[in-house]
Amino acid sequence: MLELRDVGYYPDGITVLDGVSFSVKKGQIFVIMGTSGAGKSTILRLINGLIKPDRGEIFVDREEISGYNEKKLIEIRKKVGMVFQSAALFDSLTVAENVGFAWRKDRISQAEFRKRVADTLKVVGLEGIEDRMPSELSGGMKKRVGLARAIAMRPEVLLYDEPTSGLDPVTSNTILGLIKELRQKLGVTSVVVTHDMQGALAIADQVAILSQGKIAYVGTVEEIKNTSDKLVKSFINGLEVHESHLSEAR
Ligand SMILES: Nc1ncnc2c1ncn2[C@@H]1O[C@H](COP(=O)(O)OP(=O)(O)OP(=O)(O)O)[C@@H](O)[C@H]1O
Ligand SMILES: [Mg+2]
Repeated sequence: MLELRDVGYYPDGITVLDGVSFSVKKGQIFVIMGTSGAGKSTILRLINGLIKPDRGEIFVDREEISGYNEKKLIEIRKKVGMVFQSAALFDSLTVAENVGFAWRKDRISQAEFRKRVADTLKVVGLEGIEDRMPSELSGGMKKRVGLARAIAMRPEVLLYDEPTSGLDPVTSNTILGLIKELRQKLGVTSVVVTHDMQGALAIADQVAILSQGKIAYVGTVEEIKNTSDKLVKSFINGLEVHESHLSEAR
């Protein structure tokens, strides 16, 4: 469903991504982890056609998109939904208008529009907030509205940029459960960027670790748990150490 072949991204001569290759089969959940600034969000923006690679090829459903013009990319973006790191809601639109953004030009009655919005909000565990403005929502609610807006487009691929960051453990688990459910119910292919190692291991078919713009490791959850690869181990342990420091501090 998705494939990156030897992708490089060098804005202003800065190496952001270099020689990145991986592929994701239909219905799989591919998780990308890595330290801040490793290039994770950049990979998602490339797959969604928001930026173009300086080298390599990007295939979405067998179409090579890196040479596509804006018109063709709009078609691709109907297939590939993005849940942004910062929710990226339209602040001047209500929750309903945000969620139903994809249907704004459809010839449907107001009642039908409201019903579709309510049904979609229900999927992400929200009800009765249609007429609120984004500024009246908590961070977790904003993230879920952002997810609802992406689901509304019925995409075949969903890209999630840190869907659980800043959320409490209960809401985080709800979101992770949703990512799995969307795969089971709709066969959605997912790429998830996260710092949450436990969450990643719970949902992933494959995990990639990105380091300084290169893929340092790709493997299944089983492989990553049993690997003797030093970088992967220190990465996993680094996160655990970090976590235990946090709980000590609490
Ligand atoms: N157009 C650009 N010009 C210059 N530098 C860029 C550009 N786009 C991205 N970068 C740099 O590339 C690096 C990777 O950015 P990216 O947002 O992909 O990181 P990330 O892995 O998502 O980090 P985080 O975990 O903090 O979100 C950063 O150092 C960023 O400043
Ligand atoms: Mg990022």
